[in-house]
Amino acid sequence: MEPKDTAARYDRIAQWWQTEHQNSLYAIAQLEQAIKFTSKRHSAIDIGCGSSGRFINVLSKHGFQAEGLDISREMINLAKHLHPETTFYIQDICSWIPQKLYSFISAWDSTFHLPLNMQEPVMKKLCDALEPDGVLLFTCGGTHTNCEISGAFQGQDFEYSTLGVNGFLRILTEHHCQCRHLEFDQYPENHVYIIAQKT
Ligand SMILES: C[S@@+](CC[C@H](N)C(=O)[O-])C[C@H]1O[C@@H](n2cnc3c(N)ncnc32)[C@H](O)[C@@H]1O
Repeated sequence: MEPKDTAARYDRIAQWWQTEHQNSLYAIAQLEQAIKFTSKRHSAIDIGCGSSGRFINVLSKHGFQAEGLDISREMINLAKHLHPETTFYIQDICSWIPQKLYSFISAWDSTFHLPLNMQEPVMKKLCDALEPDGVLLFTCGGTHTNCEISGAFQGQDFEYSTLGVNGFLRILTEHHCQCRHLEFDQYPENHVYIIAQKT
């Protein structure tokens, strides 16, 4: 599925997402865990931030200058309403060109929607956008190899892709990032989160 089609689907469910996730604690423990690895707390960005700004709240509390990026205009409009002081980008992560280096980047349950051929270039871009010692937190499908699947969510059809755990670990290594933590946090679901740090 092309990112613009993913955006249209999230536009349709943005209001539902807002109600459901505004005070959600989902993944907050994993975010806090990743933040512990940081040595500097300059800029941070949440990729595929959604509408709630819940990661932005935590990052700001820890002293980061936090920004959000999402391809869905409706998600960002809702996020801006809650966080008028925050910089948000309405952008496809595939075409986004980072303008600075970040101490922390999160991409929780967002890049798993990319077309398979965009997984590697986007992951490389996120690694390259980290400052030395910078930390990346992201989720991916925990398969052995490349795979694409589709599934319905809130009445919308979505597509997901993954390079498999070993594929992501290879890219991290090739782009000067070390895996600090990898966990199947929803086992037996194939949902994996990875914390990596720029060496
Ligand atoms: C499952 S939601 C997760 C939202 C948020 N990370 C959270 O955990 O609350 C996925 C988000 O990723 C965004 N997204 C999907 N594909 C994207 C892309 N190519 N570029 C930027 N954002 C994208 C969607 O618009 C949506 O807001």
